[in-house]
Amino acid sequence: MALAAILLPACSSRMAQVDPAPTHAEPARVVKGQPPPTSQLALLMRDMTAYADSTGKHLAAGKDLPEYPKRFKAIMTAESTPGMVDHSTFDPYAQAWLNQLDALYTSPTSERTEVFNALVQTCAACHGQMCPGPLVRIKKLTIPENEE
Ligand code: HEC
Repeated sequence: MALAAILLPACSSRMAQVDPAPTHAEPARVVKGQPPPTSQLALLMRDMTAYADSTGKHLAAGKDLPEYPKRFKAIMTAESTPGMVDHSTFDPYAQAWLNQLDALYTSPTSERTEVFNALVQTCAACHGQMCPGPLVRIKKLTIPENEE
């Protein structure tokens, strides 16, 4: 089905796309035409991933939060890969994610690890609904909580 073939590049995990036994120069079965260009939302997601990765490492090392990433408010309006986002599902998750991001910046230092992990959970919750490929990568962003 054409739609699934278009959705795959952004939402499948990159590892899964490696063909373990490449035969001759046959390209993977893709619908005729160019692969869709990387969407604004996909670029924003890469930025969010990098932010979560470095913020988690900072917090685990007992360092302070980076400056509040205002740019992520664009999650509500960024253009997605065509056919990717059903806004009636996406928008409440996106809003919940932004609220959780705010909570990270307003919660006491002692609770930041927990609130950060809840933020990563909110990434995973949305991805469980519409874009499961990056879930493995998202789960690795969690800070291990072993101090109890
Ligand atoms: C509200 C839903 C939602 C939330 C919250 C969300 N994502 Fe996404 N994410 C998506 C959608 C939809 C796409 C596909 C975007 C597209 O192709 O246009 C995506 C794409 C991605 C991609 C693939 C980008 C690429 O290179 O194509 C990664 C990685 C990713 N998200 C990681 C994260 C991380 C990490 C978080 C939390 C910090 C997060 N996402 C939060 C919905 C969400």
